[in-house]
Amino acid sequence: MIICLADVLAESELDDVRDRLNCGSFYAGSETAGWAAREVKKNMQLDAKDKDWAKLQRTVREALQCHDVFTLAASPRTISPVLFSKYEQGMGYGDHVDNAVMGGDRPFRSDLSFTIFLSAPEEYEGGELAIEDTTGVQTFKLPAGSMVLYPSTSLHRVETVTAGVRQVAVGWIQSMVREAERRQILFDLETLRRQMFSQGGKTSEFDILSKTVSNLWRMWSDL
Ligand code: NI
Repeated sequence: MIICLADVLAESELDDVRDRLNCGSFYAGSETAGWAAREVKKNMQLDAKDKDWAKLQRTVREALQCHDVFTLAASPRTISPVLFSKYEQGMGYGDHVDNAVMGGDRPFRSDLSFTIFLSAPEEYEGGELAIEDTTGVQTFKLPAGSMVLYPSTSLHRVETVTAGVRQVAVGWIQSMVREAERRQILFDLETLRRQMFSQGGKTSEFDILSKTVSNLWRMWSDL
């Protein structure tokens, strides 16, 4: 399941993040790529030693934690630190799959990847995020502040930026529910449960559905 979420970062948060990135110190992204992805990764990443790095991490993390649909869709167990990336003219990131295990000495499994667009689509040309799934390739170039959440299992790329600058925040999630199909079922059932409650209140049908959702969580979550 690929989900697009609007307004993950509010206007004021977005302005603050962009201001801090404008005077941030960046290094070549190829330095953190796996050996196979290194030759196709051409971007710049904010240095973790940058004076605003911690503040930027907090801003994005808090925005994610407050976002109801994100929490419902991802059921995060671990959220990685966010990478702030910049693609200038001629930069892109060819076909690759994200590393399955990340985090160095605090390892976690990447189940889901996300990209939060920090630049407006009209600020750059090219730079679409292209994700392969069973139906073909889907491309995304969303408004600033919006997010694409997609399975880390997929091959994906960032098309070459041909003009302007594309800035994004990217990160990875280990979900409490490992299997994508199960996450989808829980997401759908929880959505249904909320609809039932708003339409009919706490009926006996609602209670049975609540019990089922809760018990599926017991069967499928790893903590
Ligand atoms: Ni990637």
